[in-house]
Amino acid sequence: TERLRVLSGIQPTAGSFHLGNYLGAVRQWVALQETHDAFYSVVDLHAITVPQDPAALREATRLAAAQLLGAGLDPERCTLFVQSQVPEHAQLAWVLNCVTGFGEAARMTQFKDKSARQGAESTTVGLFTYPVLQAADILLYHAREVPVGEDQRQHIELTRDLAVRFNGRFGETFTVPGAYILKDAAKIYDLQDPAVKMSKSASSAKGIVWLMDEPKTSAKKLRSAVTDTDTVIRYDPEAKPGVSNLLSIYSALTGIGVAEVEEKFAGRLYGALKTELAEVFAEWVTPFRDRTRQFLDDPAELDRLLARGAEKARAVAAPTLAKVMDRVGF
Ligand code: ADP
Ligand code: NA
Repeated sequence: TERLRVLSGIQPTAGSFHLGNYLGAVRQWVALQETHDAFYSVVDLHAITVPQDPAALREATRLAAAQLLGAGLDPERCTLFVQSQVPEHAQLAWVLNCVTGFGEAARMTQFKDKSARQGAESTTVGLFTYPVLQAADILLYHAREVPVGEDQRQHIELTRDLAVRFNGRFGETFTVPGAYILKDAAKIYDLQDPAVKMSKSASSAKGIVWLMDEPKTSAKKLRSAVTDTDTVIRYDPEAKPGVSNLLSIYSALTGIGVAEVEEKFAGRLYGALKTELAEVFAEWVTPFRDRTRQFLDDPAELDRLLARGAEKARAVAAPTLAKVMDRVGF
């Protein structure tokens, strides 16, 4: 039986991915490559929708790819590629821009939030059409499912609308994808402010765990996480967001259910949970960092893997684009 095609992308991040990226996305990608026909992209075209330093972007893109491999993506089991190496993404995005309504794009809440924060003069048109490029990413591969977090639901809806509209106007061309909201994806919160999610743009230096930092540095951050003045280790995101965050990280990293983790720490103090969590994290992250470094230390091999991935991606993307070009009258 044929495996369901999925596609997911992640932006290159200077420094490294953070623990939220791993537990909320990358870890699920690794699992999905066993059950699905998975296409994964480091979406560097998306990364220039805000100002970038060219050398830093190039480095971040390689680092992202190395970390995905270090986390366990296997180029024999999935298609891993860098978006800018497959020119069909930008080409299809242009065509899709021309079937997207201005008002429709203007309703995207992520754009509204980001542009409000940046101000109109510092907001690029690229940021405005970001969701259209995302639609191109998905539609090029006839992906049936798109593993995303809840925050991406509106963009997947737009992708579906564009696919249906294009098919209606020009004839059956695209597969209409569904969102596949990651089930066991943990949502990770800022260690210092557990009311907000851990995020590269919003977290303070002590609130975020970078995967490529020295394990000692991250262990210290985990041990200094904000909890509450109560002493009971109980999963209760409303009343005890800090402790609950630590419990979900512990559970996600060990594969032990949250209820069982609660039991394990019954009658013990917060310090015990923090110390053990720091150990569990260090144990997981050490081999991850070593593997990631191996890929970074062998640039020729990394380039070879990415070129091969781009070739596999183009084998699907190019025929899709050719069909689109023909349909629209080129
Ligand atoms: P950031 O929020 O730090 O800018 P991105 O938006 O680039 O991170 O997210 C990349 C991926 O990681 C997305 O799939 C997103 O859903 C996931 N992700 C990001 N932050 C978290 C978090 N705190 N908890 C769970 N998943 C997260
Ligand atoms: Na984000």
